[in-house]
Amino acid sequence: MTTRTRILTGITTTGTPHLGNYAGAIRPAILASEDANADSFYFLADYHALIKCDDPQRIQRSRMEIAATWLAGGLDVNRVTFYRQSDIPEIPELTWLLTCVAAKGLLNRAHAYKASVDKNVESGEDPDAGISMGLYSYPVLMAADILMFNAHKVPVGRDQIQHVEMARDIGQRFNHLFGNGKEFFTMPEALIEESVATLPGLDGRKMSKSYDNTIPLFTSAKDMKESISRIVTDSRAPGEAKDPDNSHLFTLYQAFATKAQEEEFRGELLQGLGWGEAKNRLFQLLDGQLGEARERYHQLMSRPSDMEDLLLVGAKKARAVAAPFLAELREAVGLRSFVNQAAAPVAAKKKAAKSSRVLSFREGNSFRFRVLAADGSPLLLSSEFADGKKAGAVIKQLQSGQTLDIRTEAYGFNVWLDGECVAESSAIYADAAQRDAGIEALRVALSPLED
Ligand code: TRP
Repeated sequence: MTTRTRILTGITTTGTPHLGNYAGAIRPAILASEDANADSFYFLADYHALIKCDDPQRIQRSRMEIAATWLAGGLDVNRVTFYRQSDIPEIPELTWLLTCVAAKGLLNRAHAYKASVDKNVESGEDPDAGISMGLYSYPVLMAADILMFNAHKVPVGRDQIQHVEMARDIGQRFNHLFGNGKEFFTMPEALIEESVATLPGLDGRKMSKSYDNTIPLFTSAKDMKESISRIVTDSRAPGEAKDPDNSHLFTLYQAFATKAQEEEFRGELLQGLGWGEAKNRLFQLLDGQLGEARERYHQLMSRPSDMEDLLLVGAKKARAVAAPFLAELREAVGLRSFVNQAAAPVAAKKKAAKSSRVLSFREGNSFRFRVLAADGSPLLLSSEFADGKKAGAVIKQLQSGQTLDIRTEAYGFNVWLDGECVAESSAIYADAAQRDAGIEALRVALSPLED
């Protein structure tokens, strides 16, 4: 049994990461993922990006830049599950299940939506002018992101705390309505890193794209140097003592320096180091710490297919968790197969058997078959047989009405004939009950067709 803490966070893919994003979110998240007790799920929230941005080029560029930034920053994809939200079809599906239980009144209170309404009202416009359903439902999509993976901790900025609370609210309601005493969803907690620096920007206000005061992270050393030269300082001349504690240049330096480097720099400023030289020191420090990562970043950006592969592996890992869980949730709300009903009447069973199918096919040089339920859902996939005759004989035997030798595993089952495993279940089942339902469906599908 794992007792690891599941940490999950999403990054909306609308911009290019800057130094403030790196120090405030990316670096701490990568460090946190290195803890042996952490089971981290980090993803590109590209469905969320569509809410804020209708420029396809920008969406695509940002997805790549953000992926490359996290990877270049040292994220170990073997440790964490790193994926694109839009590669997980279970997310929008869960979003709908949650939308059906989320109270409209709850969503009316979401800050982001309310701010847009207020702005419209202030300017005498229709309250809903320019507001999409995407913006309105934003917190439900985010709840699906979080609840799908039963995250314990969700590192976010302060502006997102309300969304995490809404996820709890919506998850709780679902648990209550459909859980039958079972808690489907874990209640997530927002994690606000108090110790993590909010970096000041060039003008001393919080570094943010909306203030146009950012220092670029990985574009080029030249860009970084150029931005640093624009950091606002006081007018003290070289030789005059500077006040480190009232200098955001010093704050920026601090965020990347060791204690010893910091103290040395402080001493030099007190002794009158000129601002030009101080800026040079800051550049040297940042370049020393980020130069290698910058090279990795450009390498990654020049080989998008490598990143594509990494993210698809991440999606597979995430879906291995999401798919069986969603199957359970569908079951809970009543979206169930007609075939697997525990008390299906005999006539229905016969019909199911009649319309079930065995499909033989070739794969390279070998022969295989699949058993499909009446609704077309795959139940069983055979092993590979060297010749078609053998495959045919196995099918015949399975349909002969003899007792099937079915051996269960945690999330599936195997079928054995004459001491040989000849086939395995097609689905990954969420739990033993669903696996057993799958076995029952297979028995029905393979039962002899006499009337
Ligand atoms: N809304 C978050 C933001 O803008 C991004 C996000 C989307 C997210 N889904 C999430 C964060 C799930 C944490 C968990 O910052």
